[in-house]
Amino acid sequence: METKIFQPQQIAEAAHLIQQGQLVAFPTETVYGLGADATNPQAVRQVYQAKGRPSDNPLIVHVSSPAMVGQYAADIPVKAQKLMNHFWPGSLTIILPIKPNVLDPVVTGGLQTVAFRLPDNQVILDLINQAGVPIVGPSANTSGKPSPTTAQHVYHDLKGKIAGIVDDGPTQVGLESTVIDLSTDEPAILRPGVVTEDEIEQVIGPLRVDHHQVKANETPKAPGMKYKHYAPNAQVLMVADEDWELVKDRLTDSTVGVLVTDDHLKQLALADQIPTYSLGQDVASAAQRLFAGLRWFDDQPTIKTIYAQTFAKQGVGEAYMNRLNKSAGGQYFTGKTNKSV
Ligand code: TXA
Ligand code: MG
Repeated sequence: METKIFQPQQIAEAAHLIQQGQLVAFPTETVYGLGADATNPQAVRQVYQAKGRPSDNPLIVHVSSPAMVGQYAADIPVKAQKLMNHFWPGSLTIILPIKPNVLDPVVTGGLQTVAFRLPDNQVILDLINQAGVPIVGPSANTSGKPSPTTAQHVYHDLKGKIAGIVDDGPTQVGLESTVIDLSTDEPAILRPGVVTEDEIEQVIGPLRVDHHQVKANETPKAPGMKYKHYAPNAQVLMVADEDWELVKDRLTDSTVGVLVTDDHLKQLALADQIPTYSLGQDVASAAQRLFAGLRWFDDQPTIKTIYAQTFAKQGVGEAYMNRLNKSAGGQYFTGKTNKSV
């Protein structure tokens, strides 16, 4: 299958493909998604196939209005209404109980709940409106790889497997949405994102953050959290601020690379042959560039180890560290042996 690249002006063509049950990748403000008509089980099944995604890992249903949520959710609690009013369009995914018999179980991996998101990107909203249906969209990467923040990343992973990609340039946020479960009486964040715990608590009061580590044999709250994630070919090692002096001694040839902000890079004063990818100025740019950086190292054939900058686990830093930690398999650089946290 030839994978067509569309410009945002060509939405009508892309919407037509969605209506025909084809897969079209779309931009959002977080990462690119792999789109299919949420009401077409055959199309949704192909999404899992194209990504190589386990079928028990449910998909987010992207909507273009809160009214669309009412068609599929059994109940919209006051807290959910408040969050939609406050954060939509935006990077917050809300899990609600599902209405019986309105969506095929393939969408939700058989769960009795469904995840909704209204992204802050006009292209996907237009696509939903012109197709006239909600659009499922997991991140448009091969399962296990970093999520795509450009149309080129999507093309790299899925060319030949999907009908099209709508190219809207690099995404602004760079990390996937915050996922909050409002299907029980105890709201819980299942995946941190740029919409932070503090911001959510200001709108709906105290909540529980699910820091629970999922073991292989139990059913996790957000099934996606149990799988290996964001892994480049090389080993990623997280480096605490005070350990960079020690790391410096190891940066002697092109088998090692660094993923750091511009300030750090200047301080390290590395030789030219050390592959480096800049995370920009601060934690926000680091979040935006993390996945692109991890992917960039996959194109450097000599790289065996990537030393990556850490940030305090607060605000956007929490989401950044959540993804970095997964890509590193929990490994920190310690100077002697690598510790696992
Ligand atoms: O920013 C984003 O959320 C992107 C863009 C494309 O919207 N999408 C995305 O989708 O990251 P995906 O499928 O890669 O991640 C969705 C996460 C997974 O961890 C999945 O297990 C969880 O949300 N999830 C989806 N539906 C759920 C449900 N009903 N209950 C619990 N977890 C759910
Ligand atoms: Mg994903």
